[in-house]
Amino acid sequence: MRDLRVAAMMLAGYLFAQAKPECEAMAMPLTPQSSASGRSDGREVPSRDTVHPHDLLTLGRAVAHETGQFLLHNRPQILQTETKSSPTDVVTEMDQAAEKRIISAILKERPLDGYLGEEGALQPGSSGVTWIIDPIDGTTNFLYRIPMWAVSIAAAIDGEVVAGVVDAPALGVQYFGHHGGGAWTVCGPDAQPTVLICSSASELSQSLVATGFGYDIAQREKQAHVVTHVLPRVRDLRRAGAASIDLCWVAAGLVDAYYENGLQPWDFAAGALIAQEAGAHVSDLHGGPPGSGTTIAVAPGIRKALQELLIGCGA
Ligand code: IPD
Repeated sequence: MRDLRVAAMMLAGYLFAQAKPECEAMAMPLTPQSSASGRSDGREVPSRDTVHPHDLLTLGRAVAHETGQFLLHNRPQILQTETKSSPTDVVTEMDQAAEKRIISAILKERPLDGYLGEEGALQPGSSGVTWIIDPIDGTTNFLYRIPMWAVSIAAAIDGEVVAGVVDAPALGVQYFGHHGGGAWTVCGPDAQPTVLICSSASELSQSLVATGFGYDIAQREKQAHVVTHVLPRVRDLRRAGAASIDLCWVAAGLVDAYYENGLQPWDFAAGALIAQEAGAHVSDLHGGPPGSGTTIAVAPGIRKALQELLIGCGA
């Protein structure tokens, strides 16, 4: 089971790469094609030839919104928590409940799809569509009632991330996009979506740069070292506490760039697509697909300078 999970995580690391034609990452179809209907109500489930990223986005947006409202309005006074990869890496009962809720809502509409969730959900599926889910990105913020947390849901077809939504209910904002359709944000149920365009920054020394820190102590020491090199060379740093929101802030031009070492697929799948659709460059340090190394999302005008700075200090 563990091997399957590790393999699926590695595979998911490639998912975003498949969205970039210039990327040479392997094409790794997840599952065989199927057009059979698995719905209990007998309605036809579209085959992978007919499924459209926009339809996946519509479903993802609805599920992310509903789950976000559930999390916002049903948080117990005292949260039950467990630790995961380190004593500071917590999961709450609400992370687990939200993941189950998301998967159940998606499978109700698309029973043959696969999924990969931060809290352990893993199913290959047989439709060619895989959902990559972080039920609460920014769990530490959620625990402390800091509003920067989000439900992050991405959909991949045949290993290519084609739709993503980041719903931050405590901020009252949803970010979303699908491949080739641009990146958008909406504040409130009756508001009109607004298109997102990343910043036009051209000077790294005048740029606002976001970053984040993992939970592993050795990794944090390395991240602290990198910060000592980056901070004197930029306008300032921000650490919001949710990678998916950092990526959407790059998309919205609220920050000029974001970098972080050690992200997991569920941290970046949706936000990376949204940032890319808004015109940002999203890659690893060397221009390859984002993954477990250092991921950067950056306005095109400062990409080279940020890459050189990060490579130069061993990020
Ligand atoms: C974390 C957040 C944080 C980032 C960490 C992630 P989680 O996700 O996105 O901002 O710095 O690397 O693990 O654990 O809150 O879902």
